[in-house]
Amino acid sequence: PVTDQSIVTKMQAQLPPDTYNLLREIGAIADSHGINVYLIGGIVRDFLLNRLNEDIDLVVEGDGISFAHTIREQLGGQIKTHEQFATATWTTPTNIKLDIVTCRTEYYDAPAALPTVRASNIREDLRRRDFSINALALQINKSDFGKLLDFFQGQEDMDNKEIRILHNLSFIEDPTRIVRAIRFALRFDYTLAKQTEELALNASYLLKQVSATRFLREIQLLINEETIIRGVKLLDSLHVWQSLFNLKPTIESLMKLEQVIAYHFNDAFIVILTLNYGQHNWKQKVKRYSLTTKQNQLIQQLEAMQTVPLSKNETMSSIHNRYHMFKEDTILLYTILTENTLLRNYVEKREQLKPLLTGQDLLMQGIKPGPIFSDILHQLTCFQLDNEIINRNDALTWLQAKRKNNL
Ligand code: CTP
Repeated sequence: PVTDQSIVTKMQAQLPPDTYNLLREIGAIADSHGINVYLIGGIVRDFLLNRLNEDIDLVVEGDGISFAHTIREQLGGQIKTHEQFATATWTTPTNIKLDIVTCRTEYYDAPAALPTVRASNIREDLRRRDFSINALALQINKSDFGKLLDFFQGQEDMDNKEIRILHNLSFIEDPTRIVRAIRFALRFDYTLAKQTEELALNASYLLKQVSATRFLREIQLLINEETIIRGVKLLDSLHVWQSLFNLKPTIESLMKLEQVIAYHFNDAFIVILTLNYGQHNWKQKVKRYSLTTKQNQLIQQLEAMQTVPLSKNETMSSIHNRYHMFKEDTILLYTILTENTLLRNYVEKREQLKPLLTGQDLLMQGIKPGPIFSDILHQLTCFQLDNEIINRNDALTWLQAKRKNNL
C-alpha cells in the first residue's frame, strides 16, 4: 500500500505548486471549522498511477456550498453555486477552478433512472461511485493531509489491473457504466474483473432505456481516447450492439469505421450510423440517435444519394451533375459506407479542382450578374472534371466563344 508520505510526494510532483499550496490552505481552513475535506475522483486514481490530472474535485462531510463560501471569504475569488446538486465551483483569484461538493448518497428509484440524492459521509459518497479505482479519496485536512481512504480495494484492483464495480446493482442503476468500464479498461490497459464482466453482460439490455444523449456522450468519450475500434469490439462482447440495434459488428463494418475515423468523422452519431448503415431498417434504428438538425439532414442526404445509383462508365461531369448539390463531406462518408470507388475519385478530384474563372471574369465579358453566373461556372467545372478544359486561357477562349454565340 502507498504510504501517506509517498502520496504527498506524488501530489507535489504532479500538481502545479500554486494548486498544491491551495489544497494545503483549504485543509487548514477546514480544520479550523471542524470539517473533513477530501480530494476525490479521477485525480486521486491518477496520482497513484502517475498520470497527469488537474481536475480538482473536493467533497466535504458537511455543507459543500457553505464551505465554499467560507474559503472564498478567506481566500478571495468567485463562487458559482448549483443548489440543486449541493455543489459550488470556486474560481480562485489566480484562476484555478475547483468543484466543491457535499458528500452524498444516491437512491435509484428505477433502473437506468436518474438518482435522488441526500447528504451523507465520505464512505457513502464513495460507495455510490462506478469503479473501485474511482472510489478513492485523499483527505486534505491539515491534520490528516495525504491520508488515503480506500474502502473498496481500489489499490488492489490497480495492482491486478482490473476494473471492478462496487456492488451488484451498479450497472443496473446506471447502464452507461458499461461503456465507462470499457473506456477505463482500454485507457489503462486493464480488464474487467470476472464478476463485473458477467454483470455488465447481464445488464447490457438496459442500455436501451438510457437516453440517446447520455449514450452518445459515453461513445464520444471512447472516440476521444482513440480507442473506438477496440471499444466497439469489447462492447460487442458484452452484447451492447446486439441489444441496442440487433447487430453484430462485422470485420467489414469495423474497417469502414476505421476509415470514417481516419477521415476525421470523429462524432459519436456517425459511429452509430456506420455500424448500422446497410442493415435492414438502418434509418429507423439510427433515428433515435440523430439529435440535431444536421444529423437528420445527413440521414436524408445519404438516403437521397442511394436513390441515384451510378453506372461503371459514368463520366465525372455526369456524376457532378447529379451530386454537386451534396456536401463533399457527406459524399465522402457515403463513398466509405458504400465502398464506391467511382464516387471516391469524383470527391477527390472535385476537392483538388481550382476554379479557372471567377465572377469578375464573367463581368469583364459583359455578362449581367444573375443565375446565369452559376450556370456558366458549373458548366466550366464539368469540363474541368472531364479534363476538357485544363487552364485559364482555354477557359477564357471557351467563355468568349460562348459569349459570341449568345451563351
Ligand atoms: N461517476 C460514476 N458513474 C458515472 C459517472 C461518473 O460513479 N456514470 C463517478 C466516478 O466515480 C468518477 C466521478 O463520478 O470518478 C467523476 O466522473 P468523471 O469526471 O466522468 O470521471 P473521471 O474519473 O474524472 O474521468 P476522467 O479521468 O475521464 O476525467
